[in-house]
Amino acid sequence: MLSPTSQVLVRNKEIFEQGKWVFVNPPEADIFAALDNPDILGFHQFYDVFQQCPKNNKHLFSAHYPVVATALNKQGSNNEPFDGAVIYMPKSKEQAAFLIANMAACVKAGGNIYLVGENKSGIKSADKLFAKVSQRINKIDSARHCSLYCALIEDSHSFDVENFVQYKEIQVNNTQCKIAFLPGIFNAGALDPASKLLIENLPEKLSGKVLDFACGSGVIGCFAAKNNPEITLTLSDVSALAIYCSQLSLEANNLKGTVIASNGLAEVSHKFDTVLTNPPFHTGIKTDYSVTDKFIKEVKFALLPKGTLMLVANRFLPYPDIIKDSLPTLSTVAQTSKFNLYRVQK
Ligand SMILES: C[S@@+](CC[C@H](N)C(=O)[O-])C[C@H]1O[C@@H](n2cnc3c(N)ncnc32)[C@H](O)[C@@H]1O
Repeated sequence: MLSPTSQVLVRNKEIFEQGKWVFVNPPEADIFAALDNPDILGFHQFYDVFQQCPKNNKHLFSAHYPVVATALNKQGSNNEPFDGAVIYMPKSKEQAAFLIANMAACVKAGGNIYLVGENKSGIKSADKLFAKVSQRINKIDSARHCSLYCALIEDSHSFDVENFVQYKEIQVNNTQCKIAFLPGIFNAGALDPASKLLIENLPEKLSGKVLDFACGSGVIGCFAAKNNPEITLTLSDVSALAIYCSQLSLEANNLKGTVIASNGLAEVSHKFDTVLTNPPFHTGIKTDYSVTDKFIKEVKFALLPKGTLMLVANRFLPYPDIIKDSLPTLSTVAQTSKFNLYRVQK
């Protein structure tokens, strides 16, 4: 079944019947089949939905939509800008502003950007979110506890993703790393206290293959590699923003690593001596522990014999019981008033 936001778009599907459209971060691939325009493109920042879409030149997985001619629109029909874009309201208003700026540079002057989201998602600030690119904003529909807004883009706009990247020097114990953030990335611009607990308690010596699972900005992996330059580091995340920032963070610290887009461990084919993680507790804008439940059940297959998992999480979460079902040797190696750091050896 379609999400409530997609149902609102289907109620208004005549808007999208004509012209060249791009849909940004739909929560499910089925929306493309539910509309009467086979030429609508998908721009995805989440690998799980991108993977559900047909493998053709109509879907792009990327941190930002390239403004100049791309492989996508070269293989498509032309390099013309879009008539319109539809952005699904993301979790943070900063990410919404980033996507609006990106799309304003991709639609033609006189085109429209639609923003659809649940009423509790912050969409009611649409006027403020569009302020830099449009003063002509209308509410088009309201249903299923969602709203649909439209902004007319009267002028042409430019967009450079580099203007949105922020670097932050982060120090833990005696080590300093320069970490890259984009709007919408987990805990943008700061070190999350749970990740800090993990980094403070990293083993003095790491060796072999190390995975930073759900890497976000890449902060945990960068600290691990900075203190242990001989490790073979892999970082994985479902988010294109995370993939982009992790690559920049590695470069900023002169570190080597392989960054993989993956929903859970699906694309992680190697086995590791150590897996480090501050795992996710959100899917889209909803709190959701299912990704981490699945990760915990599968992680033993990603560990080499005697491999170690270090996982940091809120103390109230029932992860220890789930971990013990498949890896019995669990210990709590550090804690704060909010978080526990668990260590398990295979
Ligand atoms: C709690 S954050 C930790 C980020 C980073 N390790 C840090 O310490 O700042 C969790 C990360 O999980 C990622 N994530 C969410 N769902 C995921 C999934 N299905 N598969 C892989 N990663 C996912 C999010 O994009 C986010 O970057």
